[in-house]
Amino acid sequence: MRKLIAVFMAFAMFFAVTACSPAPTTGETGGDSNTVDVGIVLPTKDEPRWVQDETRFNEALANTDYSVEILFSQGSSAKEKENVDALIAKGIKVLIICPQDGGAAASAVEAARKEGIKVIAYDRLITGTDAVDYYVTFDSIAVGEAQAKYLVDQATGKDNPLYLYAGAASDNNAFLFFEGAWNVLQPKVADGTFVIKNSGEAVALQGNAKLTRDEMSKIIGQVTTNWDFNDAKNRAEANLTAAKAADKGDVFILAPNDGTARAIADAFAADTAVTSYKVTGQDAEKASVQYIIDGKQSMTVFKDVRTLVKDSIDMAVTLLGGKDPQTTGAYNNGKIDVKAKQTEVIVVKSENVKSALVDSGYYPASDFTNLK
Ligand code: GAL
Repeated sequence: MRKLIAVFMAFAMFFAVTACSPAPTTGETGGDSNTVDVGIVLPTKDEPRWVQDETRFNEALANTDYSVEILFSQGSSAKEKENVDALIAKGIKVLIICPQDGGAAASAVEAARKEGIKVIAYDRLITGTDAVDYYVTFDSIAVGEAQAKYLVDQATGKDNPLYLYAGAASDNNAFLFFEGAWNVLQPKVADGTFVIKNSGEAVALQGNAKLTRDEMSKIIGQVTTNWDFNDAKNRAEANLTAAKAADKGDVFILAPNDGTARAIADAFAADTAVTSYKVTGQDAEKASVQYIIDGKQSMTVFKDVRTLVKDSIDMAVTLLGGKDPQTTGAYNNGKIDVKAKQTEVIVVKSENVKSALVDSGYYPASDFTNLK
């Protein structure tokens, strides 16, 4: 109990400290003996999104006394389980985990639950288990809706070619993003504004305003990028090879996130039968912000990772203090309703790159060229 109080005090001090010093290195522990109080497990360093999260955790955790360790699973659920086991062995009280695969992570968090550790799912929900205590997330349906709304707002006339791409089927968010996008795109396919060009499954279901999870699985199975740059590039190239010149021209592309958007955009830009393309994105990765400035990507959905990091740390602090954190809703994970704290997202286009991402202090202007 005394240790808990000490840890709580340390967290409280952290919030009282306003000055920032250089961020601690990942994996470094704080001043509190050999044990680790809070374990953080992130999916992979190979996607810039999760490196952003690591950076923001390190910034938020600089100058603190309590001990935190951040580990990466490098795209492997087996490595993720090893990471969680290692953190359990170090005595963590709270686990903040963004799963590589939402279903496969169940056994890792069940092992944590057995030790009395509180589990916070971070950004991606862990499914099919009751061993998740809380979920901190962005509004993922709103992400897909914002992407689709952008495409709808840009389209005039009828029969505009539409190419759909999705995230990894192992990530529950991929379904939420797609569901949001479908909510907005389906009526515009039904009224003839768009014609879907790269998914027979989506065409077969285009009369349905709402899709079941199984129906979404069928479409996502056909248009997944697996959140992978190369998969996205290969799929876009294969789609373009299969498409007739008449299916190209001025095209509209739903790309699920920034890494895949850049890969898909490059493939479409290289096709001489494509006269123009509009492509969506997500995460405000630096490389995509530059693409937006350069007119090579149309938009991104900015998820202010600082807020998610703060929410999850606040939650850990509250739990370490023996209290129940405040939540704003719940997400069903197939087994239970997981109490959740949800954050809004912001649409970024060339017009508001500076105000949303630079003036807000998220990125320094010096990270970009030709920023206006
Ligand atoms: C999602 C996450 C997105 C994006 C994607 C690819 O789960 O919410 O922001 O990063 O994974 O890693």
